[in-house]
Amino acid sequence: MNKLISIICPIVFSAGTLISCGTGVQQTAIMSDDTAYNYTVNDIQNLQDFLLGKSSGGELSGKPYDLNGDNKWNSFDLTLMREMVTIPDTNSSDTLVVYFSQTGNTGKIAEYLIGLTHADSYVIEAAVPYTAEDISYQNSGCRANQEQNDKSVRPEIASPIESLDSYDTIFLGYPIWWGEEPRIIDTFLESYDFSGKTVIPFCTSASSGISTSERNIASLADIGTQLPGKRFPGSASESDVSAWLDSLELPEKQSQQKLIIDISGTQLTATLADTQAAKELAENIKSSGSVTAELSEYGGFEKVGSLPWSLTKSDQQTKTKPGDIMLYQGDKMTIFYDSNSWSYTPLGSIDNITQDELSELFGNGDITVTLTIRAC
Ligand SMILES: Cc1cc2nc3c(=O)[nH]c(=O)nc-3n(C[C@H](O)[C@H](O)[C@H](O)COP(=O)(O)O)c2cc1C
Repeated sequence: MNKLISIICPIVFSAGTLISCGTGVQQTAIMSDDTAYNYTVNDIQNLQDFLLGKSSGGELSGKPYDLNGDNKWNSFDLTLMREMVTIPDTNSSDTLVVYFSQTGNTGKIAEYLIGLTHADSYVIEAAVPYTAEDISYQNSGCRANQEQNDKSVRPEIASPIESLDSYDTIFLGYPIWWGEEPRIIDTFLESYDFSGKTVIPFCTSASSGISTSERNIASLADIGTQLPGKRFPGSASESDVSAWLDSLELPEKQSQQKLIIDISGTQLTATLADTQAAKELAENIKSSGSVTAELSEYGGFEKVGSLPWSLTKSDQQTKTKPGDIMLYQGDKMTIFYDSNSWSYTPLGSIDNITQDELSELFGNGDITVTLTIRAC
C-alpha cells in the first residue's frame, strides 16, 4: 500500500478511511521507492475515466491509485482522491451525490451523475465492511439477508459525513436488496436533517423496481421535497443517466423566488443572494407564511433589526450600496439606503430602486417591514 501523508497538515486514518483536514490541501503519496507523488485533478480524471471504461488503464500502470490498499482501483479510491485534492472552495456545489454500492453497479451510475452534474460526492461505507459472503444472497442466512429481514437494523457507517447543511439537492443511490433499500441507507437517512432539501433516490437492481424503497425513504426522514426516483439496470449508460437528469424538475430549474418587503403598504421586490443564509431566510419565511420585523434607524445609512432566527453566516468585508439587504451578526437583517463598509452575509438586494426613493420611503425613524416570499 502506498503511504499517504499530508504536506500541509496531518491526516488521520480510521478504519482505512482518510479524514482530511480542511480545504485547499493537496496531499501526497509516498511511493515504494520513497519518492513523493502529488495527486492532481488529472489523476481524478484518469481514475474516473478508467472506472467508466473510457480508458484501459494500461497507460496508467504504476500510478498510485489504490488509495485504500485493497489491491483494486474502484470508486472508494476515487472518493479518497477527491478528498485529498481539494479544489478551492469558491465553486463548491450545492448538490451532493451520496451512494452505497457493493459490486460497483450503483457506483458506476453515481460516477456518471457526478460527472454530469459536477456535484460533490460521498460514499457510504459500512463500519464493518461487507464481505462477498455477507452479500451472497442465495444463502438465506447471509448478513445482508439477516439485515433486510429486520427493519430495525441500522448498520453503522464508517466515516459519517459531518453535515449536509451546505447541500440543497441530494441524489441518494443504492442497490435494491430484497425489494428495498439496504438498511445502511436507513442509518444514513436517520442521521441528518433533510428539511428544506431536495432528495432524489436512484438505485440499481437485477429487475426489482424502486417504489418500495421510495416509500420507505419518505417515511424514515422528514424530507423537504422528494423527487421521483429512478431504477437503472447495471448495464445503464451515461446517456441513460443524462436523459433521466434532463427529465427531472431540479430546484435550479424551478421558478425563481423573490423576497417581498412590505413597508406601510408599499411593496418592494428583492432578489435573493446565492448564499446559504438567503436560502434559509426564504425557507423560514415560507414556512411561517410571512414574518414581521422591527428595523431601527442606524447611522444614517441603514435600518437594522432582529430576525426570529439565526441564519448561517458567511460574512465577507463588503461596501454596501443602497438597496442591499445583509445579515448582520447572524440574526439581524439590515437594509441599506446608503453605503457602509463592514463584514456582512448577503441576503439580497432590492430591485429597481434609487437611493432617493429608498430614503424617502424609509424616512428618519424606525420602520416595520413584513417579509414574504413569492415565486415568479
Ligand atoms: C442481498 C441482496 C439482495 C438483492 N435483492 C434483489 C432484489 O430483491 N431484486 C433485484 O432485482 N435485485 C436484487 N439484488 C441484486 C442487486 O440489486 C443488483 O445486483 C445491484 O445492481 C447491485 O448494486 P451494487 O453493485 O451497487 O451493489 C440483490 C443483491 C443483494 C446483494
